[in-house]
Order: sequence, then C-alpha cells, then structure tokens
Amino acid sequence: MQVFRNFSQIITLDSAFAKDGRNLVPKDLSIISNASVVFDDKEILWVGKDIDFPAQYQVLDAKDCSGKILFPELVDCHTHLVFGGDRSNEYAMRLNGAGYEEIAKTGGGIISTMKKTSTLSRDELFNLGCERIERINSYGIGTIEIKSGYGLNLEKEKELTLIIDDLKKKFAEKVQIKNTYMAAHAVPPGFSSSKDYLDDVVIPLLKDLAPQGIIDAVDIFYEKGYFTHEDCEELFKVSKELKIPCKGHMDEFYDNKGALLGVKYNALSVDHLLNTDLDGIKALASSKTVTTLLPGTGFFLGVNQANARAFLDAGCKVAIGSDYNPGSCHWDNVLMIASMAAPKYEMNLAELWASITLNAAHALGLTSQGVIKKGFSPRFTIFATDSVDQITYNWGKNFSLS
Ligand code: NIG
Ligand code: FE
Repeated sequence: MQVFRNFSQIITLDSAFAKDGRNLVPKDLSIISNASVVFDDKEILWVGKDIDFPAQYQVLDAKDCSGKILFPELVDCHTHLVFGGDRSNEYAMRLNGAGYEEIAKTGGGIISTMKKTSTLSRDELFNLGCERIERINSYGIGTIEIKSGYGLNLEKEKELTLIIDDLKKKFAEKVQIKNTYMAAHAVPPGFSSSKDYLDDVVIPLLKDLAPQGIIDAVDIFYEKGYFTHEDCEELFKVSKELKIPCKGHMDEFYDNKGALLGVKYNALSVDHLLNTDLDGIKALASSKTVTTLLPGTGFFLGVNQANARAFLDAGCKVAIGSDYNPGSCHWDNVLMIASMAAPKYEMNLAELWASITLNAAHALGLTSQGVIKKGFSPRFTIFATDSVDQITYNWGKNFSLS
C-alpha cells in the first residue's frame, strides 16, 4: 500500500468522469487542495483532503508531496513512433512551398519512411522505439499508443507489430503501451489498388497475428490516394469478427464521411477530423466513439485546425493526441501540443486536461483510468509545482518527476 500526503492540489477529474468527459466546465477538474491519496498496486483506496485523512491509514509510512500536484496519468492516444530515418528534407520542401500530398505523389511521404524503415533491423527499430518512449515518458506521459504502418510488405509489417509488442513488455512496469495495427497506412508500390494491398497483406496478416492476442486495435488511413470507404468497411468487418476494436484516420484532407463510418462500427476513436460535417459531429456526440484531435499535425503542416468548438459544443468526448510521426508531426510532447492548441481551440481547462487524460484513455478503451477516484487504477502523473495553472501556461517546460 502507498500513501502520498499533502499535495498542493489533486486534480481528480471526478466531475468530468461523471459527465463522461463531455460538456465540461472549469469546475469539472474537481480539484482538491491540500490533498492525499492511498492506493495499492491495483486501485485507489482513498483520496481526499488531508485534514480528513482516515485513521486506519495513519500507521503507514507516507511520502510527503507538498509543493507538488497530482493528475490522472497523461496519455498520448495517437503515435506512429516506430519508424526509420527522418523527413527533414520534406519539411524544408514544405517550408519552401510544396504541399504534403504533392510530396507524397512524387515518392516522398509515408512511402519514403517505409523504405527507410525497411533498411533497419528489428533490433535497430526496437532501440529507436525505446529511446522515443523514454523521452515521451520523461514529460510525464505514462500511457502511449503506438501504431504500426511503416512496414511496406508483409514480413516487415509483421515485424513492426512484434516490435511494438516487445516494447510493451519491456516497459510494462513503467509505461503502458497499446499496440495498434495500421498496416493500412499507405499502399506500397507494386500493388495496383488499395483493395489488392488490403486483400493480399493487411487482412491476411491481421488474421495471422490476431490469435496471438497482441493487437489492441486496428486503424486505417481513409483518405483520397490512400484507402477507400469500401476498404474501411472490409477491414472493420474483419476486425469485428476478430473482436478487435477499430479506429480510423478520418476526414483529414477531405470530408469523406469518415466520422460516420467510425461510429457505424463502434470505433474506439476517429482521429484528425479537420473536415467533418455536421452529420458526423452529431453522430459522434451521441456515440461512445472518442473524437481525437491532432493539433500538432495542423501546426506542423501549416494547415487549418479542426473546428474543436463544434465538437465540444455538440457534446462529443474530445481527446488530443500527438500524432508523433516523421512526416506530418515530428513532435512528441502531447502536453505541449495541447497547451499550444487550447487557446486556438478555445478549450477551457477541464476540456484541456480531460483531452489528455480521461478522454485519451477512453480512446484506447482504458476505462478504469483517467480519474482519481476510489476503485480506479492508480495511474498518475505528478508535477513539481503547486498549481494546475502553471503547467499549460509554461509551454514545454518539464515539471515531471518521472
Ligand atoms: O496521422 N495520416 C496518416 N498518417 C500520419 C502521417 C504519417 C506520415 O506522414 O508519415 C498522420 O498524419
Ligand atoms: Fe496518425
């Protein structure tokens, strides 16, 4: 059993949790000042004001946490962090006027990272993954979703899913990793259509790996030039048969009715959503599917941002992820990304914090964390400052103790 006493603040998100992470107002942060918490390996046993600390726990050794604050654990619910090489050349090209889709058409983009990734060994890619996870964890982020998808062919794509599984095992004590299968990321050269690649590689490999129980979710890039509506339906039907939840990169460059499609298949989340129309927003608001926004990608690509207020005001459950990847967001700190996005998105503090804790956890199907409440998982982030106001104000400053 562990006892942490005298936090300046515990930001419990209790009321945000009671509202299912929707329609939040600032007081839904449910902050307790001068607060303490008791927990064991499995669950939170008590949380409250230190003045009310229960007599039964007085005998235990306590850690003094004055001058610190406690949050439900920070979650990055969208990364592509196992990749080889970088795309600094493309970033330079874009600053000099070229567009993301234009670069992709001339052999750059996801395909170029696939090629670089294919030249690295399993060990090299694993080591890169370790380095990146350590760095992300050093910001105070304790749960990270990782998507495969730079594999180019069946063997390499299989290897990537196995590498993510190795990373999950290696970091189990320290960082919780979720393994998302995203072989449907781009169509490699040599296939005449996205359907051919789906039928020859994506679906057979999914069926091959699924029995190992190592895939937590299935994702697809539904976009012009990548995968079609029919491809999504085919993949989601298979994932449903295999009892693996689905997700989707939806409505990023065009309104493809991707949000509606995700809701139809009970997706854990639909992500990007820069061009989602009102029907999609309404469908999300009345579903369990999390609305995941990726503002870092908008900043990095220099494009418009999603209309966050439209989703928030409609009652959607909004999360923010980093989308950390070599091409469209080479930036791995979701706390900093959310801090920078909040004024632009016009998010209040409860919306902001829920988006990278409670709602981000739900985007990964993790419903026993994201709130500091009796009976929930003891997954926390501690910051060395005495007020919640400091964290998102100091963009990029690291207050983490991890
Ligand atoms: O989420 N949209 C598809 N995948 C990534 C981009 C990956 C890349 O450019 O390498 C994204 O933005
Ligand atoms: Fe992505």
